[in-house]
Amino acid sequence: DAGKSGYDHYMLKEIHEQPRALRKCLRERVDAIERTVDLDLEGLDDVSAIHLVACGTSYHAALYGARLLRERGIPAQTFVASEYDRASLAGETPLVVGVTQSGETADTLGALRTARAAGARTLAVTNTVGSTAARECDEALYVRAGPEIGVAATKTFASQQIALHAFALWLSEESIGSDRIDALRALPDQVQAVLDDSDARSVAEAYADSSAFFFVGRRHHQPVALEGALKLKEISYEHAEGFAAGELKHGPLALIEDDTPLIAVVTGDDEIAQKTVSNVKEVQARGAPVIAVTDGRSDVEQYANHVLEIPETDPTLAPVLANVQLQLLSYWIAAELGRPIDKPRHLAKSVTVK
Ligand code: G6P
Repeated sequence: DAGKSGYDHYMLKEIHEQPRALRKCLRERVDAIERTVDLDLEGLDDVSAIHLVACGTSYHAALYGARLLRERGIPAQTFVASEYDRASLAGETPLVVGVTQSGETADTLGALRTARAAGARTLAVTNTVGSTAARECDEALYVRAGPEIGVAATKTFASQQIALHAFALWLSEESIGSDRIDALRALPDQVQAVLDDSDARSVAEAYADSSAFFFVGRRHHQPVALEGALKLKEISYEHAEGFAAGELKHGPLALIEDDTPLIAVVTGDDEIAQKTVSNVKEVQARGAPVIAVTDGRSDVEQYANHVLEIPETDPTLAPVLANVQLQLLSYWIAAELGRPIDKPRHLAKSVTVK
């Protein structure tokens, strides 16, 4: 218990360690004056395409990272590691990036070995120095989150997001705007602000008995919608699904009832945000409660029963802040239901069998 520093669970402690973890991840890598990112990786200068392979929460970080790489002009695709095979490597040989906090997940190691056997260069994005992934790959990018005890990944996910964000900036030849650098450097304090002011506990108390939970987000927020649902099902044992907001009308809407809350991540005030607001309206009109995770810039609050606020930031970083609210929501729902949060039934921190 001493290791929990006064928190009831390691998971809550690790959620609160995120500002520090992110500071460590960025330290000496982002130069605010020169507006450069330096990651000390060798032999990756002529990368023309990237495959990211990962499992579970790390797969969601990989989805986030792949989008940022594509936005910087680098073709990037994400694969669930257990589905990666020789056929996935058809065409030009990519750099294959294994995203794995432990560095020991059998499916991810298997995918990286498949890539190496086909002549691809490999990079491990991992939290664990000396792990199998770090040793077997050509290069390793450490996410520096510090040890994570809770089975459900929290701070390692945030650190993977930021390490992959830095990687996309480092790899691309486009110059990095000072706005992006400033936003990255402000992020740890903004995560702290979310932790200090979150209303997730009272929202969780109101909805813990719901029959199912749906999480939606669009573009940058789609990966955290998936992650929000995964986190909730892992630790609460409740049914939760996450998907792209636009997919609501292609099936999930049929499941919407007055005891199936929709958790919608909506930031900014552009047409992308407005499309998600339209999806929210459709759900609200069918009687389901809506919990909006928002920076307050769109009118989503008008259609929401509850709001979980996040500070304004660059659109590419808003998912990191939104995810902190989703982590807290899951944590408090599981706490309300009395689940063994740090050690959910049937799950392991690191899955070393295929
Ligand atoms: C297990 C853990 C998850 C984790 C996944 C991938 O399923 O319970 O929290 O996301 O493995 O782990 P890795 O170490 O490869 O990131």
